[in-house]
Amino acid sequence: MTFTAPIQMPGLALDPQWYRRAVFYEVMVRSFVDSNGDGAGDLSGLISRLDYLQWLGVDALWLPPFYQSPLRDGGYDVSDFHAILPEFGTLEEFRDLVTKAHERNMRIVIDYPLNHTSDAHDWFQQSREDPEGPYGDFYVWRDTDEEYKNIRIIFVDTEESNWTFDPVRRQFFFHRFFSHQPDLNFENPAVREAVFDTVRFWMDLGVDGIRLDAIPYLFETEEGNGEGEPETHQFIRDLRTMIDRDYPGRILIAEANQWPQEVVQFFGTEEEPECHMAFDFPVMPRIFYSLRSQQAGELIRILSEATDVPSGAGWGVFLRNHDELTLEMVSEEYRQAMYGWYAYDPRMRSNIGIRRRLAPLLDNSRAELELAHALLFSLKGSPFLYYGDEIGMGDNIWLPDRDSSRTPMQWTPDRNAGFSTADPGKLYLPVVQSLVYNYNLVNVESQLAQSRSLLHWVRNVIHVRKAHPTFGLGELRMLQTDHESVLAFVREYEGSGSQFGDAPEKILCVFSFAHNPVSVTIQMDELGGSSLYDLFGGGQFPTINEDGSVTLTLGTQSFYWLHVGESHFAGGRS
Ligand code: NOJ
Ligand code: CA
Repeated sequence: MTFTAPIQMPGLALDPQWYRRAVFYEVMVRSFVDSNGDGAGDLSGLISRLDYLQWLGVDALWLPPFYQSPLRDGGYDVSDFHAILPEFGTLEEFRDLVTKAHERNMRIVIDYPLNHTSDAHDWFQQSREDPEGPYGDFYVWRDTDEEYKNIRIIFVDTEESNWTFDPVRRQFFFHRFFSHQPDLNFENPAVREAVFDTVRFWMDLGVDGIRLDAIPYLFETEEGNGEGEPETHQFIRDLRTMIDRDYPGRILIAEANQWPQEVVQFFGTEEEPECHMAFDFPVMPRIFYSLRSQQAGELIRILSEATDVPSGAGWGVFLRNHDELTLEMVSEEYRQAMYGWYAYDPRMRSNIGIRRRLAPLLDNSRAELELAHALLFSLKGSPFLYYGDEIGMGDNIWLPDRDSSRTPMQWTPDRNAGFSTADPGKLYLPVVQSLVYNYNLVNVESQLAQSRSLLHWVRNVIHVRKAHPTFGLGELRMLQTDHESVLAFVREYEGSGSQFGDAPEKILCVFSFAHNPVSVTIQMDELGGSSLYDLFGGGQFPTINEDGSVTLTLGTQSFYWLHVGESHFAGGRS
């Protein structure tokens, strides 16, 4: 396969707010392309598919950890933060990846699990063997397992306590995640300095941003629940100050699986900023809830919550990622409903969530896949795609834990789905061979050959979004409708900077979750008398009545993006 998208310019276009307009793509190095036939994906393989990602319209890659690691938690168990796992490649190849991505105006964001290390890390080995030595105080050691009773257990399927007894040091160590992932002791200034060193190390290699894994959990206190303690925020502020001073234009992304009022604190304030971006965990499960309940109410409620964020802050919107679809941010009642709809087989569950991929979750329904993506690309924030979801890849619930949705990328109908030339038995995980999602059927090559495939549809929607910076930079205003299944909002931006000129832009976005066609009246108040045009095909829609109301009909599980004012046709709808 060859992709002939033009290389725009050497190096990156200058745009301090690039992350607010960017389309992100999460790709696990191990899962994408195996360049040397050893059965695991690698950096060289990823480099060889940058043209594909550029063709798709991706602006930035998020790479989960590829450091030295025993890989007992998909690489989030790091044994050396300054080394790359040899099966993934070398630092030289990483440098090459950064250069080649930048040549395509594509950014590289790496993942940094700074809260903990693997127990195989040399720091931990020294810490357990020599309590008085330089690393003796690098971890949270105690004589009992009694402290921090308010701190919840995250991996409830595998862990009974956040404390584990170490037979070498004969003390307990604290861990938020697996018992082979001891938490670093952030009270120790040497730990904080080591974290700064690691950030500088990767920034010096040219990365454009860092996802701060598990960021709420850095500090523990006896009174608090160990999520976003004041000391943790102070640490992030210090880190941000260093980045702004030494690496302006690079970004920090918060992974904080919390309620909106708590997540926004990771943006900091105008005067004392923390992260540039934060993932929108509360919105994600409500998209899935709306699809099955046919009710827009929960989504409307969460989107209407007043969460003032500093200018320049950006949300990371996502449907799926490499973890389970977490249900921590919904009530028990809604959680049970979602388990019933989406995890009817107990094997589909993991911790407090569902370990399935997007297409199987949505029962491979093209209407639902389009509706979910239309939300992903028009809600406030920047979209994060998960590799393979652009072709509707399936999962394998017979694999353990979250490996179910980390299987090899499906490129072709050939051996190993074109991912690797290795003996199929040698692959790090088997390719998906289920009836519906078999790689013979679901692969990039065959979808490239069908103009109406999901892949072409996703590419088109990405390009329509990118033609309208309002989606990235504009405000979102909720609108009143008279139908419980319909969500409607206006995205608006003063000075659109779009290819159609710099006039202020307004885009009406309407989504119907109903499983039948509906007619809905939307109240647009001061926009009475304005015309509406479809953003995809350019077609004219009913003019908004003088009283600000407009009545539209929507097909089963469908959506509109309508330009308010004049026709802004930006390409066909495939
Ligand atoms: C969050 C990551 O997304 C997840 O994959 C990992 O297991 C935990 N942090 C622990 O690092
Ligand atoms: Ca390889």
